[in-house]
Amino acid sequence: MNQTTAGSEKRGSYFIKTFGCQMNVADSERMAALLSESGYTPTETADDASVIILNGCTVREKAVHKAVSTLGTYQDFNKNGKKPIIGIGGCVGQLEKQTLFKRAPYLDFVFGTDAIDNLPEIVNRIENGEKHVVYAEFDRTMNYSTETKVVGARAQAFVNIMKGCDKFCTYCIVPFTRGREKSRTIDEVVDDIAGLVAKGVREVTLLGQNVNSFGKGNPNTKGREPLELHNVIGKVGPRAGEENFPQLLRAIDSDPRCEKLRLIRFTSSHPLDFSDELIECYAPHEQGGVKRLAAHLHLPVQSGSNRVLTKMGRHHQIEAYIAQMDRLRRLNPDVGISTDLIVGFPTETDEEFEETIRLLDRVQYDNIFAFAYSPRPGTRAAKLPDDVPAKVKNARLNRLLKHQLKISEPLYAARVGKTMEVLVESESKSDRLKIEKGATVGRVWMGRTQCNRVVNFYDDSPRNFTGRFVSVKITGSTALSLEGELVIDPGMAEALKRSNPGATPGWVKSEVVS
Ligand code: SAM
Ligand code: SF4
Ligand code: F3S
Repeated sequence: MNQTTAGSEKRGSYFIKTFGCQMNVADSERMAALLSESGYTPTETADDASVIILNGCTVREKAVHKAVSTLGTYQDFNKNGKKPIIGIGGCVGQLEKQTLFKRAPYLDFVFGTDAIDNLPEIVNRIENGEKHVVYAEFDRTMNYSTETKVVGARAQAFVNIMKGCDKFCTYCIVPFTRGREKSRTIDEVVDDIAGLVAKGVREVTLLGQNVNSFGKGNPNTKGREPLELHNVIGKVGPRAGEENFPQLLRAIDSDPRCEKLRLIRFTSSHPLDFSDELIECYAPHEQGGVKRLAAHLHLPVQSGSNRVLTKMGRHHQIEAYIAQMDRLRRLNPDVGISTDLIVGFPTETDEEFEETIRLLDRVQYDNIFAFAYSPRPGTRAAKLPDDVPAKVKNARLNRLLKHQLKISEPLYAARVGKTMEVLVESESKSDRLKIEKGATVGRVWMGRTQCNRVVNFYDDSPRNFTGRFVSVKITGSTALSLEGELVIDPGMAEALKRSNPGATPGWVKSEVVS
């Protein structure tokens, strides 16, 4: 009989399939770390695993279908005459709970977004003969404390700083799958990041549904600045006397234990909490900015029409959003900005859609993530008639994406000739640069600049660049990526001679289902 084991005793193998946003990706990394600590080993394919976990998303209807149909592909798996343990978690588990057993009776357990740390215990219960275990209650305590877990050496880590969402945009299921907002304390997050830096992490992405409302409810006992937040919209998350997001950025940046940290990223944020004080963090360091803050901002806007924004319950108007973007660009013109957009929200007219197109022209985004509206049961918008036909939604989506390509192309082309620092994520999926050179050896690598642009480059050696920061001279561009040549300066040549560990950057590939 299996018992829960601490540490290194070898048990079965596990496979985790992830759908959805970076929150789910980070949760999957935590699940992997917890199962590894309990003696399980990771496998590359589901049919080789004794424990299969699907971490699912519910943000659009298609995402739920994808999770359930993927689950179906696991039902006849049989490893050495034994059925694997199959569980489903994430926002799908949180929302659907036991109803999933009706759709997939072969499923062994369902767990929610607050039950990740219970995963080894749940698997153990199934191994000991329990059936159809559900663990999907929200943690109702107000404090939120956790420590980031990473497996192996890596250069990049996701750090959860807050969880939940209190915004309740009318179309969105996330407040129902992630619960109420809770933030870790600044001291706890800084200690956590210092620990990661000591283990070799050089880039952190601070995670939460609304990272810029971080701190709500945490007393600012150390009197950290800024004491209060302001913005052009006039209303921001944490109150005076509470901790806030700019304080957190500055606390990480100034902690001597984080000296070796190169970049701080964050996602996702909301225009309502995008304060003047946060914009000031993007200023050059000499003018009071946060030195390590990446020159990138993902600030979802959802629509270019004020009437649609009001129906979406976004509580911001387009003029104020544009004023925020203008202010940011005046302080730092190099910041790459991306956004999320929904087309075909109930009652959206052709003219209102045109307002979204005009917004793209006005803001000049580097990149957009656009989605056709999908009604989610239980949300306020689901009570409205879904009156934009699917054909119209798809036509608007295609037009929006094509329009963005026209904007991105010259923005990317303007980078040609510059030398940029890139953190290498992995080998590139495309061998084009190698083929064009007629090379038979070496590999094409893919990484990201500080402003989050994808860069591909070719290297003719067997060296592994995964997890390394390298300099790349940009020689070409498309509307979606840059390409260039590796710049090997004397310092780097020396470092490459000394070691080539190929540390993993830490990205767990996630599938976005739109
Ligand atoms: N908290 C972030 C925010 O406010 O932008 C992320 C929310 S959600 C995980 C990511 C994106 O999915 C949203 O920004 C929105 O564009 C899109 N989305 C959410 N609900 C949707 C729905 N019902 N239909 C289509 N897209 C949706
Ligand atoms: Fe959803 Fe709005 Fe919360 Fe973002 S802010 S997670 S879109 S409810
Ligand atoms: Fe993310 Fe999907 Fe949940 S987008 S928060 S995994 S519903």
